[in-house]
Amino acid sequence: MHSFLSKLPASRLHRGDGNGKIAGKTGLHAAMAEHKPQPAVSHGFTLLVSLSTLLVFVVVVLSAYIRLGDAGLGCADWPACFGQIGVHDNRSLAEGGPLLPPSAARSFHRVAATLFGFFVLGITFLAFRHRKRGGPDVVLPLIVFGLTVFLSVLGVVTPSPLIPAVTTGNVLGGMAMLALLWWIGLRIQPQTAPDSAAATQLLPWARLALVVVAAQIALGAWTSGSFAGPSCAQLSGCESANFSVQNLARGYEPTRRLERDAQGKVMTDASTPVVHMTHRTGALLTFLYLGWLGFKARTGGGHLRTSGNVLLAMLALQIMLGLAGVATGLPLLLVTAHNAGAALLLLAVVNLNHRVTPNKQP
Ligand code: HEM
Repeated sequence: MHSFLSKLPASRLHRGDGNGKIAGKTGLHAAMAEHKPQPAVSHGFTLLVSLSTLLVFVVVVLSAYIRLGDAGLGCADWPACFGQIGVHDNRSLAEGGPLLPPSAARSFHRVAATLFGFFVLGITFLAFRHRKRGGPDVVLPLIVFGLTVFLSVLGVVTPSPLIPAVTTGNVLGGMAMLALLWWIGLRIQPQTAPDSAAATQLLPWARLALVVVAAQIALGAWTSGSFAGPSCAQLSGCESANFSVQNLARGYEPTRRLERDAQGKVMTDASTPVVHMTHRTGALLTFLYLGWLGFKARTGGGHLRTSGNVLLAMLALQIMLGLAGVATGLPLLLVTAHNAGAALLLLAVVNLNHRVTPNKQP
């Protein structure tokens, strides 16, 4: 009997019609299945969360690709053409043009974003339905839903690429949705990690890592939104960066709106290289902190060791992408990959947080 039951797919043993009746099963087998508690979340919910996580990653990276392409990264007459917003690079791939033409990127983005919106609606609906059977908290799905609405409205009301705060809001909003969906997906998995002393000790540091990586992503998005990428072309640094209080205040003015000259090119000033170099300084601090945390997690053994390894790998990848981007004159694909690398690094930090967070008490 045992071997017979063990050959059945687990999902068939779990699935009921919600009224305690098991479709297509009879006798002892049905009775056993009837006594199985209903899982806290349905397969549909798990599938929707997984697909949405994948989709929001695609949407985040495609939006970066479109925005950076519009700003002129990798344009034909680089760097003179940088800052001529929306003058698209229509060269073919053979002529050194973009791998993905801007029009195709926009179409993919629209389809993925629309599909994502429907999936988030589905997740929110199912989260409410699963509440009674001990499913995940509805707060996080509601936040994801709220962010989706907020970002759609932000895109319509302030479509200008000249406001660094809007660019930063868009990047952070997308990353937050990705992180939340990843977290929901991790927390609905059967929990295997035992609560250990090492995990308890790491918990506050892992939480702080979330703040550090979010701040570094914000600094990167602000650099991009301030059109500050090409202002420091040297890997060794930027001689023109004068870290005066005035330049810092101007560079990070929350309501700043960039100006354009008579030719329509975005104008920069003395605060632009300061914004760039602040992001690089943040990268050094992030590297030191996450590097320390990754090595500390490795000493915890088991899942913590794996999470530490993943964190270190993503950190190394992201730093290398940043350095390579500057060294090669900010090609569009490499800077887009730097955006994707930031997303993966954030997921690695969320994953470590999952590993050190105690299991939910039944
Ligand atoms: C943990 C480390 C890092 C993180 C999390 C990070 C994150 C980011 C993010 C999210 C952006 C915005 C991308 C976009 O427009 O969507 C960005 C932009 C940028 N990052 Fe980083 N970064 C890191 C390290 C570095 C390093 C080491 C460098 C180079 C030394 C670098 C150079 C740049 C530059 C130049 C831009 C602006 C690109 C542009 O012109 O738009 N970053 N970064």
